[in-house]
Amino acid sequence: MKVCVIGTGYVGLVTGVCLSHIGHDVICVDNNEEKIKLMQSGQSPIYEPGLTELMKSSSQAGKLKFTSDLAQGVTHGEILFIAVGTPSLPTGESDTRYVEAVARGIGNHLNGDYKVVVNKSTVPIGSGDWVRMIMLEGIAEQQKVLVGAGNLPSKAQETQANFDVVSNPEFLREGSAVHDTFNPDRIVLGSHSQKAILMMKKLYEPLVNREFAQDSSLPKVPVVVTDLSSAEMIKYAANSFLATKISFINEVANICDRVGADVTQVAKGIGLDSRIGSKFLNAGIGWGGSCFPKDVSALVHTADDYGYEPELLKAAVNVNMRQRLIVLEKLQHELKILKGKTIGLLGLTFKPDTDDMRDAPSLQLIRQLDRLGAKVKAYDPIVSQSGASHGLSGVIIESDVAMLADGCDALVLVTEWKEFLELDYSKMAKLMVNPVIIDCRNFLDNQVVKQAGFQYLGVGC
Ligand code: UDX
Ligand code: UDX
Repeated sequence: MKVCVIGTGYVGLVTGVCLSHIGHDVICVDNNEEKIKLMQSGQSPIYEPGLTELMKSSSQAGKLKFTSDLAQGVTHGEILFIAVGTPSLPTGESDTRYVEAVARGIGNHLNGDYKVVVNKSTVPIGSGDWVRMIMLEGIAEQQKVLVGAGNLPSKAQETQANFDVVSNPEFLREGSAVHDTFNPDRIVLGSHSQKAILMMKKLYEPLVNREFAQDSSLPKVPVVVTDLSSAEMIKYAANSFLATKISFINEVANICDRVGADVTQVAKGIGLDSRIGSKFLNAGIGWGGSCFPKDVSALVHTADDYGYEPELLKAAVNVNMRQRLIVLEKLQHELKILKGKTIGLLGLTFKPDTDDMRDAPSLQLIRQLDRLGAKVKAYDPIVSQSGASHGLSGVIIESDVAMLADGCDALVLVTEWKEFLELDYSKMAKLMVNPVIIDCRNFLDNQVVKQAGFQYLGVGC
């Protein structure tokens, strides 16, 4: 099928590349010309395991093209994905101006052929109908231009509202977005139009049949077909539940610290209950990234808008924000005065296997350490190479862990990169002024690190 994906960020680019890999004819549109040029040269503007290889093979097969020309993309696609950013506004609500700009732009370029317009971006509940309204405004603008130029709209143009909107939320985890696309737990489709739903089912058929899955013997992928608002709520509720589950285990970790229990053992013991499940029970410095913070605050804002007090969601956010401070308290307990001390951060990104620094817990920790007059150094497998500097002014980015450890009063493991399991901790201990390590992800083997000469502190263990 002919597909157009608008917005080539972590979600849009992965969606476009994977749909081209399963056989569809995809044009990706982005208004960032530099990004387009980079992707046309076969390079990905984001780090996602496996993405570049698929980009190259699909481009070489002529199944994947990149352009900044929205009109070209809209004309090409029978299915149009909106996958532009929906960041948080300071009030916590979603900033939907980019979705609005794209929806209006699509309306401006419709030519009467039937289109399915898909909200892939996480949009506030009720946005499906709002996107339809914006598109109709775009169509009206186009017709006004046509009439103004003395060209009466053609019959086709008069029937341009020949489209339906579908909500198709994404559940891709950064760092495994390609894997998650080919191995979804479910596909959610929200629309009142049976015609649109059938087209979407045809689009996703190879994924539903697990033709590209790790284990193709598994049963077919469940497809949840519902109304627009329920589909939009599924996305927010899923992320909010996962975020709340993490805040729950972090709260238990903070109590474990006081009673001398080990939260990693507690997580194992409760996770074996099939009603709880073992995933997303890793206590630590808390959640960050471009989704959980944005989506939980958007749901809180929606509840407030409709006069409901979301106490549980607000508590999950508060526990999460406090986790960063708890790490700081541990540092102060060990070093007493932080002013003038040198703190080395192992990992900066919000999670491993990604280059995404958006709302990374390391950024808040850096701000706190800076406020207390500490000198901050850092090593991150991707950031140390990429030279990314957003939010890192004043931080000394080292190119290897030995240079990081040299002269440090303490190390803080912020991101659980696998390579941190293989480091020469005894060599690092000898380079430090004070061999203390705070493992914010309970990731390292504390016996190994202690034998290497470190004082080890975890979160809740
Ligand atoms: C976005 C949303 O933030 C997220 O809520 C949703 O679930 C999926 O889409 P992400 O892919 O991380 O997530 O967005 P981002 O990395 O910000 O990429 C958005 C892309 O859209 C950028 O490449 C930007 O250049 C492009 N864009 C933005 C347009 O092409 N046109 C616009 O008008 C605005
Ligand atoms: C999340 C959702 O998982 C995904 O379905 C949705 O589409 C986008 O948001 P992502 O934000 O990429 O994906 O990362 P995820 O792996 O969910 O981790 C989110 C945050 O929670 C990270 O900061 C991570 O460090 C933290 N986390 C995760 C924990 O602190 N403990 C855990 O056990 C798991």
